[in-house]
Amino acid sequence: MKISMIGAGRVGATAAFSVLTQGLCDSFAFVDVLGDLARGEALDLLHGVSLLPRQVKMAGGDDYVLSKDSDVVIITAGIPRQPGETRLDLLKKNVGLMKDVVAKVVAQSPNAVLIMVSNPVDALTYLAARESKFPTSRVVGTGTLLDSVRFRSFLGDRLGLVSSQVQAYMIGEHGDSMVPVLSQLRVDGIPLTSFPGFAGKINEILERTKNGGAEVIALKKGTMYPVGLMIARIARAIVFDSGEILPVSTVIDDYYGIRNVALSVPTRIGRGGALERIKLELSDDELEKLRKSAQVLRSALDSVGY
Ligand code: 2OP
Repeated sequence: MKISMIGAGRVGATAAFSVLTQGLCDSFAFVDVLGDLARGEALDLLHGVSLLPRQVKMAGGDDYVLSKDSDVVIITAGIPRQPGETRLDLLKKNVGLMKDVVAKVVAQSPNAVLIMVSNPVDALTYLAARESKFPTSRVVGTGTLLDSVRFRSFLGDRLGLVSSQVQAYMIGEHGDSMVPVLSQLRVDGIPLTSFPGFAGKINEILERTKNGGAEVIALKKGTMYPVGLMIARIARAIVFDSGEILPVSTVIDDYYGIRNVALSVPTRIGRGGALERIKLELSDDELEKLRKSAQVLRSALDSVGY
């Protein structure tokens, strides 16, 4: 099993660490325009291989040939979001760069599953699906998995629950129009809305979740730990062909009539990538918000000719 990481910045490095400590592959390559950075990350991680769950061959540099014949390619390359900048502001900056990256990745690994991470992730997932000419199942964006894990973490923290027992979805755009699915909130199958403290805290929790990325960026100029962990979670579902359901971004074809954009809905993940989109029972209000989110994303794609 070979996994490659395009982009050796903080997100790429943190995701690599998560992937390797979970023993997901026996060959790992970093590729970055900053060849020394990629070589350095690969070498630093190689020094720890004897402590990992399995033996791993490490490579790093600026040549995409290092990623040849990968089973999974994780794309974190791109200009990152600046403090105060929305994810959609970034689109114009990252479109040209991403076309080039996707072409180079596909030339080396025509059978890989792509995990798209760079922002704005939904638009770049759509771009990657179109440019790669891969079946849309083989291009998976991290999407609102990040917002969903933040949501679960805050719900656990603020309501005194175990976050991993909380079932909570954010769907739609990984951005300002994301949609919390409040109608389906559960903790270990029990409706969360009946828990003590819920009504008084939910608005604050939603606010912190939606602004989670921006809040951390303002403090430390980037986000990395939940990002790295969720990337490893997706990679794990692919590598083990687990069928795990995760809210990730893919090109949607008729989800409540929504099509021709990439956005996040609960999706079964396995060796082939996105195996199936799961239809959530949404309230009228949630469905309306999801349609609006799709419109926001379609306008963004229109503005760059996709
Ligand atoms: C985040 O939400 C920056 O989109 C990234 O952490």
